[in-house]
Amino acid sequence: MANKILFPENFIWGAATASYQIEGAWNKHGKGESTWDRFAHTPGKIRNNDTGDVANDHYRLWKKDIGLMKKIGLQAYRFSTSWPRILPAGRGKVNQKGLDFYNRLVDSLLEANITPFVTLNHWDMPQKLEDEGGWPLRSTAEAFVEYTDVISRALGDRVKNWITHNEPAVVAWMGYSMGIHAPGLTDYKLGVRVAHHLLLSHGQAVPVIRRNSPNAEVGITLDISWKIPASNSRADMDMVREEDGKWFRWFADPLYGRGYPSDKVADLTKIGALPNGLDFVQPGDMDVIATPTDFLGLNYYSRTVYRSDNPDNDPQTLFPQPRTPEHWTEMGWEIYPDGLTGVLGRAYFNYQPRKLYITENGASYSTPPDEKGNVPDELRTNYLRTHFVAMHHAIQAGVPLAGYFLWSLMDNFEWSRGYSQRFGIVWVDYETQKRMLKDSAKWYRGVIKKNGF
Ligand code: FCB
Repeated sequence: MANKILFPENFIWGAATASYQIEGAWNKHGKGESTWDRFAHTPGKIRNNDTGDVANDHYRLWKKDIGLMKKIGLQAYRFSTSWPRILPAGRGKVNQKGLDFYNRLVDSLLEANITPFVTLNHWDMPQKLEDEGGWPLRSTAEAFVEYTDVISRALGDRVKNWITHNEPAVVAWMGYSMGIHAPGLTDYKLGVRVAHHLLLSHGQAVPVIRRNSPNAEVGITLDISWKIPASNSRADMDMVREEDGKWFRWFADPLYGRGYPSDKVADLTKIGALPNGLDFVQPGDMDVIATPTDFLGLNYYSRTVYRSDNPDNDPQTLFPQPRTPEHWTEMGWEIYPDGLTGVLGRAYFNYQPRKLYITENGASYSTPPDEKGNVPDELRTNYLRTHFVAMHHAIQAGVPLAGYFLWSLMDNFEWSRGYSQRFGIVWVDYETQKRMLKDSAKWYRGVIKKNGF
């Protein structure tokens, strides 16, 4: 390991959360039901039937949570606003109490010298809109733009960094095609429409934010893993092409003006997902989607190795690392720091975004507090340290990486896995809502202070 790693002077060190994963207060002060409320309230959808009804009670404890951020020395905080808290029916009537909550949060962050990065859609969309047809409908994109207008008018004088959608691929594929996330549907025909309307609404929202929030920077966050074939057999390599196309290029290509990738159009046609071709694309849509943005956000966690078990597999096979906590987190995700250098280089050199942020990166380990009142999560610290080195390599190679948001500020509701996964650098006792800095948070504080290690 290098002796000294220093980051560029203006590099931003932050942490991230998302509304449904921490806020709780799911039906308080006029908030409307979200698709995640409905999904989590449906027995059998979430591990242990956990819900985000209370979660970290952040809606009540937000001041304390800003106190934690101050203790860690965070320079920026990425959080998401809950659409149904602001527009309970998805469009129309505004819930002032919801806006007040985010207004206070933003004011207090700024007072604490912490730059807010707001994500508009981190998945908890109004159930009312879903009942009307949800993201497969073009009109949902219009509703998203209305919501964007309301929230950017309310916060845009103070919030100068905006992310439209978090991981649209996960919404489209896991929510509407694989049934693992809300709203739990299982139809690829819906997924492709969802993807299009998410992308379209992103492109439509960008100028609205710019109008309401002068000098703001606007971007979108995509998830990306480092995908490689287990061997150089044609079947394994084709799996990588297929999966990378589905999860990344289907979104990145249109955002950067290349339209939908033709190999994937062929794949999706083959599985019957495009019975009428791209009939949902209207003239001008692809230009709107490609509206220039200020940055691209990437969420990186892991590597995926694709093994087709096809008989033409080359014997030169790549074996995964040993299944130990040093190599695999409790999510069952392989730890592969070099992949972070890889995805940053790939995204920058292929698509040329003006700049990039790592909007999420982190590790799930359930290490509990010890008798001395410490949380000795050195496995998480190791994960972070090796990924920071990887990030530094990318910067040295010329990638304009502007900042890093650790997932997550604190343990929280991990979607279909409920509370079984702890990603926080702050320990949360869900019985008492007590919070405690883990050792990794103390280490991160040092990194931020020195802008390196
Ligand atoms: C990402 C999500 C985030 C969190 C991490 C572990 O896909 O954006 O909310 O759940 O995974």
